[in-house]
Amino acid sequence: MSRNSDTRSTNITWHAGHVTREDRERILGQRGVTLWLTGLSGSGKSTIAVGVERELVQRGRVAYVLDGDNIRHGLNKNLGFSPEDRTENIRRIGEVAKLFTDAGVVVLTSFISPYRADRDAVRALLAPGDFVEVWVAASVEACESRDVKGLYAKARAGKIPEFTGISAPYEEPVSPELVLDTERQTQAESIAQVVAYLEAKGYLAARAGKLAGG
Ligand code: ADX
Repeated sequence: MSRNSDTRSTNITWHAGHVTREDRERILGQRGVTLWLTGLSGSGKSTIAVGVERELVQRGRVAYVLDGDNIRHGLNKNLGFSPEDRTENIRRIGEVAKLFTDAGVVVLTSFISPYRADRDAVRALLAPGDFVEVWVAASVEACESRDVKGLYAKARAGKIPEFTGISAPYEEPVSPELVLDTERQTQAESIAQVVAYLEAKGYLAARAGKLAGG
């Protein structure tokens, strides 16, 4: 399933609505954005994502987590962990994140997303400023010593093929907007770092102006 060779829909026309993204953002009092968390299994992505989501919702903002393990229970349950399937996993989530962002939501995606090209493709899919790459940085050694799900032990024992960091690659981000050093800082500090970034960049403030869609 490569990115470009699988277009099978023909005779379809884009149909625009009457309500703009700006209308929705004014109602919500925030800007839509996708915070793309990337990092090894066990680096802390999911914990930080749900922590930021809770913090934002407690402040009256609309946030939503798209999580790798969860999405693979449903939308992407037909995908495994080969390079091709991971690329398709990230491509689909990129499209879903784009829709949520257009809806005005602060989206937190929590996927290993090990390939730079896949992450860059999502960045290119979204408008400038709509995609914020967040590297949840922790070494394989640190993630393996935590081994929260017991998967590193299984991977070392040869029971999980193509396991990221052990027998499959993780390509570190080159210029992420944010780096969370989860080896040295607490989960609360990482969560606060993300929320502070959103505040500083104006994502949590309403746009000025009147509703145009009515
Ligand atoms: S991704 O590489 O395609 O982005 P994704 O984030 O959806 O991965 O799923 C990763 C989760 O699947 C891990 O946190 C782990 O719980 C589980 N998993 C199962 N097999 C593997 C594997 N071979 N490599 C990495 N994670 C795996």
